[in-house]
Amino acid sequence: MRQAHFVRALSALLLAVSLSAAQADQVAGAEKERNAQQQKKDPTQKEKTENALANLMGGPKLDQAAVDRGRKIFVPTCGFCHGNDAHGKSGPDLVRSTLVLHDNKGDTIGPVIHNGRPDRGMPAFPSLTTDQIADVSTFLHSRAADVTNRFAYQIGDVVTGDARKGAEFFKGEGHCASCHSTSGDLAHIATKYQAVELQRRMLYPAPNLIDMFLGKAVKTAPIKVTVHTASGEEVSGTLDHIDEFTVSLHDAAGWYRSFSRETAKVDVQDPRAAHEALLPKYTDDDMHNLLAYLETLK
Ligand code: HEC
Ligand code: HEC
Repeated sequence: MRQAHFVRALSALLLAVSLSAAQADQVAGAEKERNAQQQKKDPTQKEKTENALANLMGGPKLDQAAVDRGRKIFVPTCGFCHGNDAHGKSGPDLVRSTLVLHDNKGDTIGPVIHNGRPDRGMPAFPSLTTDQIADVSTFLHSRAADVTNRFAYQIGDVVTGDARKGAEFFKGEGHCASCHSTSGDLAHIATKYQAVELQRRMLYPAPNLIDMFLGKAVKTAPIKVTVHTASGEEVSGTLDHIDEFTVSLHDAAGWYRSFSRETAKVDVQDPRAAHEALLPKYTDDDMHNLLAYLETLK
């Protein structure tokens, strides 16, 4: 039953993707060039979003041999602290880590693994090669995909929950009402999106992959960041880029500022972080009920 729903949903999804791929081919070369230029100017934010989305889509591109190689490195080397399933022990959960979510072949986790964070209990592993780290990265993405794949099964029969229980979860346990209002930002949300798209946005609010693919302008809530410099200055603004070594932002006046992370203390406030943290916490019932509730907001 479920299986049939899932297969149907999957083929619909694949069809949608291939249709839009054909459409995308027709998008003029000029558009592509403009996108390429934009990417050159600001590669990280776009790439980061794309990586995060690809990882959340369940990663059909994951290379199983790399997953296995990565596991063989991870379990004996890192499992002691991060758990063999990477869900965290004395060290943090790496399946839910945004740093891991945004990683592409080791570009964000590589520096952490090579340099460690010795002051915070993460040892350095300078001898791991770039290839080995890429394999570890693939393994970690496969773990994140396992968590989110659970939700792929919901797609076929999305609106089967109990709306009343969904309403309770929305106001109570889910703390949704602390950021959203069903008469404000979420008013008529069910007329704005189809159930599947609504579910996707509820689980992980991010721009639609196909819209991004077609180069459409997509509006997203900006990520805020506050930097405390060694000299005691406090600078807040919209995050441009962050890695192990530098952080850059646009401040309230619109000025671009960049800081070395060696001396500055950085506090990132991603408005979507609450959603990421909820992902592994929902039970299947919570999700069905919530969606049924949101579907009443016509
Ligand atoms: C001795 C325990 C220990 C071992 C072994 C260990 N880690 Fe860690 N790791 C930690 C701790 C503790 C932190 C959190 C550091 C902090 O608070 O910034 C961490 C942080 C990280 C982070 C950053 C997570 C984030 O969201 O910022 C990554 C990535 C990571 N470890 C990967 C690995 C990998 C890969 C290995 C194996 C090659 C490994 N760790 C081995 C203890 C360990
Ligand atoms: C800490 C604040 C916070 C909490 C708690 C929170 N959200 Fe969100 N939610 C956001 C932000 C930020 C966005 C993205 C808005 C954007 O990008 O324009 C969002 C987006 C959404 C969207 C997509 C809206 C759209 O128009 O695309 C839905 C649906 C949603 N949240 C439902 C929920 C539900 C249900 C819960 C509780 C289980 C919840 N949210 C909890 C902050 C929060």
